[in-house]
Amino acid sequence: MNQTLSVIVLAAGKGTRMKSALPKVLQPLAGRALLAHSLASVAALKPAQTVVVVGHGAEQVKAAFKDHELTWALQMPQNGTGHAAAVGLAPVADGGVTLLVTGDTPLIRTETLAALTALVTEKTFALLTCNVADPTGYGRIVRNAAGEVVKIVEHKDALAANDTAVLALNEMNTGIMAAPTAWLRGALTRLEPHNAQGELYLTDVIAMAAFDGLCVATAQPESEMEIVGVNDKVQLAALERDVQRAEAHRLMNAGVTLADPARIDVRGKLTTGTDVFIDVGCVFIGDVSLGDNVSIGPNCVLKDAVIGANTAIHPMSHLEGCTVGEGALIGPFARLRPGAVLADEVHIGNFVEVKNSTLAKGAKANHLAYLGDATVGERVNYGAGSITANYDGANKHRTVIEADVHVGSNCVLVAPVTIGAGGTVAGGSTITKSTPPATLTVARGKQVTITKWLRAKKV
Ligand code: UD1
Ligand code: CA
Repeated sequence: MNQTLSVIVLAAGKGTRMKSALPKVLQPLAGRALLAHSLASVAALKPAQTVVVVGHGAEQVKAAFKDHELTWALQMPQNGTGHAAAVGLAPVADGGVTLLVTGDTPLIRTETLAALTALVTEKTFALLTCNVADPTGYGRIVRNAAGEVVKIVEHKDALAANDTAVLALNEMNTGIMAAPTAWLRGALTRLEPHNAQGELYLTDVIAMAAFDGLCVATAQPESEMEIVGVNDKVQLAALERDVQRAEAHRLMNAGVTLADPARIDVRGKLTTGTDVFIDVGCVFIGDVSLGDNVSIGPNCVLKDAVIGANTAIHPMSHLEGCTVGEGALIGPFARLRPGAVLADEVHIGNFVEVKNSTLAKGAKANHLAYLGDATVGERVNYGAGSITANYDGANKHRTVIEADVHVGSNCVLVAPVTIGAGGTVAGGSTITKSTPPATLTVARGKQVTITKWLRAKKV
């Protein structure tokens, strides 16, 4: 048959059990919205059309995916998964195959969806099922003596009917199915809300398929993780741990040494060289790349960062939007903010903040300092307590510190200002004018000692 594929993603539900103002499909898993995960798997199928059915928080969901090529279908009110499927099918043309995916099943793999879709013919309905140890809450697959699927019974309905035989079934409905579009459209118009939730159940189309003489073929995912539906924060957290465990295993299989695979969180893409060591409690967000022999101390947060080979990030450091060269030493308690570009062998010590600044090879700022909007030359030594005063209350200005400069402790460099190469700025100076190369600049009150001075006495 014509295999033009359309995908409908059901994402209109409120996710009542999340008890959150954020729509369920926008709840984050490994740093990305639940829906982003399933949409990525769907996109790899290259369907002719992807329709996302939205309702609850529709504007929020649409805004979160405005850069995606999607057709939006509004389901209002939300009368169940069968109603959602009908709404989603409206913009789809007959003739091909429709794949239905739930928006709260984030870890479904493209291969599984492709295998399921391939089962569909004019006379075959395809259903993804899974045998699970604990099917609580899921719809159960009911088969006849010949082993053919005859219907799906929802957990709530089996409970209401006290149907222990159905409740004992371990084969559950994943909510993912594929069918000939034209047949599906007709079937959805025949749904009725005679059930515990008073809704139109998508699952009822399975009994119709059997009734209409269609074969209900089933496929299974490779692992249960693929089809776990996320309904509440407990399930969300459990799935998050599963995802993180899988990511930790991927890293270790790539040669990374993890102090504890249970204490690392990757919320994005972490790329690693050889012999990388990561201590406990680290969080990696966005795109992070670690070169060969990089070591990350405990409790560091790295977001969108590139770290060169042989660099050590010491404990409690926070790095975001920065590039660090090779053989550098960062932290403990360092903060690198967006636009920090550090060359090889740079040392950034405790309580040093660097923002939108470049530090050339071998530059050091070891204690309690701020470098904002600065260009720092090779081998510069930037003293404790020194800061660049880069903001005049309205605009930002640059500070240029040329090669081999020594900035003493507790200096204020009022930008725009340039400290000439090889120069020294004496401790405690407030520098408002540029200084010539290879000179000493002192800009502080002269030390005065007053003799014959008597401290006041209590009367
Ligand atoms: C559903 C299935 C159940 C299956 C389980 C798998 C039905 C009746 N039940 O139950 O057999 O085992 O998924 O996870 O289909 N949605 C809408 N509009 C609505 C209602 C729901 O778009 O009116 C969307 C939700 O946003 C969600 C998906 O459909 O993404 C599933 O809805 P949910 O309420 O979570 O169904 P379950 O009770 O989990
Ligand atoms: Ca669900």
